Amino acid sequence: MELNILTLCYLIGSITFILGLKMLSNPATARKGNLVAAGGMTIAIFGTIFLYEENGAKLGNYPWIFAALAIGGIIGTMAAKKVKMTAMPEMVSLFNGMGGACAALISFIEFGHHVKNIATEAPSTGTLITIMVGLVIGSISFAGSMIAWGKLNGKLKDFSFPGQHIFNLVLLAVIVGLAGYLTTSLSADNYYLFYVIAVLSLVYGVFFVFPIGGADMPVVISLLNSFTGVAAACGGFLYDNKVMLTGGILVGAAGTLLTMLMCKAMNRSLSNVLIGNFGGNKSGGAASGSTPQGNYKEISLSDAATVMAYANKVIIVPGYGLAVAQAQHTCHELEKYLEEKGVEVKYAIHPVAGRMPGHMNVLLAEADVSYDKLMEMEQANDEFKSTDVVLILGANDVVNPAAKNDPSSPIYGMPILEVENAKTVIVNKRSMKPGYAGIENDLFFQPKTSMLFGDAKKALQDLLAEVKNV
Ligand code: TAP
Repeated sequence: MELNILTLCYLIGSITFILGLKMLSNPATARKGNLVAAGGMTIAIFGTIFLYEENGAKLGNYPWIFAALAIGGIIGTMAAKKVKMTAMPEMVSLFNGMGGACAALISFIEFGHHVKNIATEAPSTGTLITIMVGLVIGSISFAGSMIAWGKLNGKLKDFSFPGQHIFNLVLLAVIVGLAGYLTTSLSADNYYLFYVIAVLSLVYGVFFVFPIGGADMPVVISLLNSFTGVAAACGGFLYDNKVMLTGGILVGAAGTLLTMLMCKAMNRSLSNVLIGNFGGNKSGGAASGSTPQGNYKEISLSDAATVMAYANKVIIVPGYGLAVAQAQHTCHELEKYLEEKGVEVKYAIHPVAGRMPGHMNVLLAEADVSYDKLMEMEQANDEFKSTDVVLILGANDVVNPAAKNDPSSPIYGMPILEVENAKTVIVNKRSMKPGYAGIENDLFFQPKTSMLFGDAKKALQDLLAEVKNV
């Protein structure tokens, strides 16, 4: 009877994971989706703790289990409450690394059990393959995520040496070769190779992520996330635990899809992200030393306020700079004030604006911007033609016409927001420095474009004050 209740707990867990993922795909239901999946996970965890039995015995070890749950729960809650939106990829990376480490530890423990009994009962090849895959992928994911975390919080710099990609390939071949050998010929004499494989996998994770540009980390983190999912699914196989298997497969599949979608939205291949040298600005901040070409014109705050206050329709294009400046609340205030004056205000969201998937949606949701004001790229591109003013806030690459016009540009082929179709374009950024791709933006030099220099938060506060005076 208890086993059936446990199976029911796992079924509820699996269904809520799928429902939660589905709800996450829409900003209006995303928060609820997270809670639904977390609820299902709680049921699965407590079901396992209290109902799981092996040879008629319950898990026991309750003080250990609940002490670990309490410590992990407190750390997780505090980290999630404290984290700034711009540091979100960093936190995801850290937590993902923990998931990889857990998967590798499961392999360690299970391998230890089998080695103890190796003289009497040799593990099956299937079990050994699952243990090896969990170990290798979990260790790579752990080490890679830790390096990604260090890079994103600025503690580590990109690092590579000549021939590193070849070195990485050879290292990976050695790991796969050793794992294959151990799987087919495990004995009391060679079991120590398991620990060699673990160390080599950790080294591979480090060398795999170190050379990748800091700003490419979101794509890499999503890839490592899918690795962790696969490693966790191996744990599900080992323990014949359906909910762990479902969860692992969902994370693996979702991570892979997200990685592919991000690459597609940037019109780059995964190999270009992993081994390419994209743009000149790898840090994710403004590149230095690039000299602007051509003439651009500036607009004063009062002129910008007048043009916007007398417009029929204004579309705001948020970008990475808006997130850096944490100007989303001021932006929402400006939007509300313009609407009170009879101006229709909407937002155009590019799929890779910012530095993480859904970055702009999350940012604007934080400021309570209504979801029905957000337009996806295709809809926005239809609307720019009938728009009086486009206000670009800290966005650059996602509005760069080189993506359409210049086949030699590294972003050529990336779909962009075609803001140049509007009557007037106002660009707020701090300088003429390029964005993430490290390339110049011809939009800034076009006759209908005016630059409004300054930090987005300060500029928006001043603009709001001016609009109130119009
Ligand atoms: P970017 O092209 O990176 O441009 C951001 C601009 O914001 C910069 O040119 C910078 O110019 C300005 N800025 C920085 N701080 C500012 C502040 N405090 N106030 C005002 N402006 C500020 O951003 P984007 O247009 O959002 O494009 C995103 C880029 O990231 C794309 O190339 C995309 O492929 C890449 N990427 C995205 C993702 C995801 S999933 N979203 C993942 C990896 C890479 P100044 O220095 O002159 O101020």
